[in-house]
Amino acid sequence: MSLWRYRDRLPVEPLVTLEEGDTPLVPAPRLSERTGCDVWLKLEGANPTGSFKDRGMTVAVSAAIREGAEAVICASTGNTAASAAAYAARAGLRGVVIVPEGKIAIGKLAQALMHGARVIALRGNFDDALRIVRQLAQKHPIELVNSVNPYRIEGQKTAAFEVCDELGGAPDALAIPVGNAGNITSWRRGFEEYGESPALYGFQAAGAAPLVLGHPVESPETVASAIRIGNPARWEEAMEAVTASRGRIAAVGDEQILSAYHLLASGEGVFCEPASAASVAGLLAHGLPAVEGDPEPESVVCVLTGHGLKDPDTALGKAPAVIGCDPDLAAVERIAFAD
Ligand code: F0G
Repeated sequence: MSLWRYRDRLPVEPLVTLEEGDTPLVPAPRLSERTGCDVWLKLEGANPTGSFKDRGMTVAVSAAIREGAEAVICASTGNTAASAAAYAARAGLRGVVIVPEGKIAIGKLAQALMHGARVIALRGNFDDALRIVRQLAQKHPIELVNSVNPYRIEGQKTAAFEVCDELGGAPDALAIPVGNAGNITSWRRGFEEYGESPALYGFQAAGAAPLVLGHPVESPETVASAIRIGNPARWEEAMEAVTASRGRIAAVGDEQILSAYHLLASGEGVFCEPASAASVAGLLAHGLPAVEGDPEPESVVCVLTGHGLKDPDTALGKAPAVIGCDPDLAAVERIAFAD
């Protein structure tokens, strides 16, 4: 099974697919206990390249093939680059990805390079890279596969269909990290097409929170490199999604993000990347409900957008040290069973 089971709701045929979508929705008992409501985790890291981007990429690259494109291009904080590179490789297209130099997680860089994309490390940030790829796509016959591409939104809306199908309707609320704001736009569209309207809680990193501040951020900074974005392309749509659903947009600090990241890994057995943990951090920091006076949500789905293995540096930077030991039974026993 893949998201292509919704093909009658999608604008193209699957000309290139890696069987994306149909990701696990797992209950989170510890978080449920802490928040007093049913918390579910949508594990988007289970997609073929380890992030939700594959949902949009299978559709966008299929459309590019249909339109006769020979190359695809994107700006990226890492995951879009990995996904675009994989689908370009599979489709036999040239892939060009532009990433902020030194600011993307190492796993994502490895993916883009292994899939044979031309990787350009820009001495600037994501917003600079997006500006440049938009100009390039106007000048050259190359398909832009950032989430400004409408086919990306179409593919990504299928995550909402899956959740509704599985739960027999929408949860009361959805918590999701927000960077360039394509994904929250996609979930909103998916729920709307399904005839549902859960409260959408979008969370940004405090050092990269233009939607919360109400103005672009010149030099965004956060440990959650995937959402280090100062001027989201789908700004208005994200705000509209939040307002219309009686949700909220709020910021979470890096410490809160890292604490949720650890809690998910050690308490729920789910390893996601730091940006993904912003959804859970937001829930824990800001609580429920979004609009005062509204009824308490009884169920919340947190979207865990990317896999933890993407960013081993952040994981190891905070993890306890490994314990060296000689190959001696008693020595191993002592360490293994020490309090
Ligand atoms: N979580 C992860 C793991 C991401 O990679 C991204 C975006 C987001 C959340 C935010 O989604 O941009 O649709 O609001 N990553 C993009 C990239 C920007 O280039 O990989 P958004």
